[in-house]
Amino acid sequence: MITKKLDVSKKNIEIAGNIIKGGGLVAFPTETVYGLGADAMNPDAVAKIYKAKGRPSDNPMIVHISHMDELNLLSEDVNDMARLLMKTFWPGPITFVLLKKENVPGITTGGMETVAVRMPSDETARMLIRAAGVPIAAPSANISGSPSPTNAYDVLEDMDGRIDAILMGESCKVGIESTVLDVTGEEPIILRPGYITKEDIDLVLGIKAQFDEALFKNPLNDDNFKPKSPGMKYKHYSPKADLKIVEGEGKELKEKIEKIRNRYIKEGKNVEVLYYEDNKKAAQNFFADLRKLDRKGVDVIITAALKQEGLGLSVMNRILKSAGYEVVDYKEDCDDCNSQ
Ligand code: TXA
Ligand code: MG
Repeated sequence: MITKKLDVSKKNIEIAGNIIKGGGLVAFPTETVYGLGADAMNPDAVAKIYKAKGRPSDNPMIVHISHMDELNLLSEDVNDMARLLMKTFWPGPITFVLLKKENVPGITTGGMETVAVRMPSDETARMLIRAAGVPIAAPSANISGSPSPTNAYDVLEDMDGRIDAILMGESCKVGIESTVLDVTGEEPIILRPGYITKEDIDLVLGIKAQFDEALFKNPLNDDNFKPKSPGMKYKHYSPKADLKIVEGEGKELKEKIEKIRNRYIKEGKNVEVLYYEDNKKAAQNFFADLRKLDRKGVDVIITAALKQEGLGLSVMNRILKSAGYEVVDYKEDCDDCNSQ
């Protein structure tokens, strides 16, 4: 299949909307990461998403809407807490898990009784949903297991020839996926940390949101690892290079990184260091940097651990997954470089 590369214009958004209406697949920008969209209410169209991504069939989609009216198509069980959070954070990078209405196809929700819904703030995404005239099911537009794409070029790296079209928008401003919040019970539970943080949510509600405990377990060595969000159990975001996370702060951290870097260079490896000024920059650039360095054929990527609070916790969740949950044991990894 030839993938149509559509620049963002009113006319092209209409074309893309018609493709979705007709049961096709369109990749499009959102403020978080690029999505791979299909008509959420059309099971055949949604089946194409799983196929294009090579995605396990028990991993549900996020359904994107552009207007509150569309929420009524998907769920009739939206409590006051959920409404307050929607009013505060929508349109924006947070997804709510709600009880689904019967008419939402099981394939869209991976067989679950709940549906995840998000109203993106990105103007192109919202215009596309309006043009399609249906809610759009859209996971991140990458092949399952590779880093989420945050620009049109990275989408094409994975999806060129596998989908009908892409809206070639700008790079994503947020750079990591939305926060996923379960609001089906009395207490909100964070299933996936994102740009909207626990601190942001607590401030609005005046009660404390819980994290799904599974978020802080290593699925690779825990047989009882059962996250409430199916997507969190898969190894994700892996670059081809070996990613090394180094803990520490300030000067000590820089020295540690330098020593580990020298050690790998001595082994003849091609090494790059990813160092970010702040959490926002880390969120914006981490996925794109992994892809860039993979294209360069780098063997080892070294990056600093982020403090696990606020946005740092969300980015660190991605960094840990990308590194297969391993943090460098400095003493062990660096015994032979202490003398340098
Ligand atoms: O920012 C985002 O959320 C992006 C853009 C495109 O909107 N989308 C995205 O979709 O990240 P995806 O499919 O890559 O991740 C969706 C996550 C998965 O971990 C999935 O398991 C979870 O949301 N999810 C979807 N429906 C769910 C449900 N009903 N219950 C629990 N988790 C759900
Ligand atoms: Mg994804």
